[in-house]
Amino acid sequence: MKLPTDLVQNLNEQLNRELYAQYFYLVMASYFLEKELKGFGRFFLKQSKEEGEHALRLFSYLMEKGVPFHPLPLEIPPKNYETPLACFQAAYEYEQKVTLSYYNLLKKVRDMGEYDTEEFLWWYIREQREEENLMQGWVHKLTLIGEDAVGLLVLDKEAGEAAEKEESD
Ligand SMILES: [Fe+2]
Ligand SMILES: [Fe+2]
Repeated sequence: MKLPTDLVQNLNEQLNRELYAQYFYLVMASYFLEKELKGFGRFFLKQSKEEGEHALRLFSYLMEKGVPFHPLPLEIPPKNYETPLACFQAAYEYEQKVTLSYYNLLKKVRDMGEYDTEEFLWWYIREQREEENLMQGWVHKLTLIGEDAVGLLVLDKEAGEAAEKEESD
């Protein structure tokens, strides 16, 4: 079934949100790498790469459905954060925003009876749950250590090892 035009627009907007996440996390990776916090840097590089894959999955869906990809402008992500915690909080907030956008779209496709797209979107709903959990976990740990520099170095190491482990899995 041919996708309605407004749904094509919505899917293009989701793609743009994923591309923005890729860019956002790349900037966050630079924030940490430039501070010699290489573990967090590696963590955000991995997240950035994953967001790019989320965008490509949407791109493939548009192509499969024979509908156009509309390039949309990308905002410039913020670069400076007061603390590592503030950076992770911004990532967590963005993930929640993206989750909400998928919820709204899911509701819309259900009401329209676009079950094919509904099935496609469920993958993103599950992915968002994982990513929210991940970011929330880091926000929690960084909150626990407060201003403790040694604690920060321990978490940096842990984040780097976790990113490396997932990459080799
Ligand atoms: Fe994503
Ligand atoms: Fe994400």
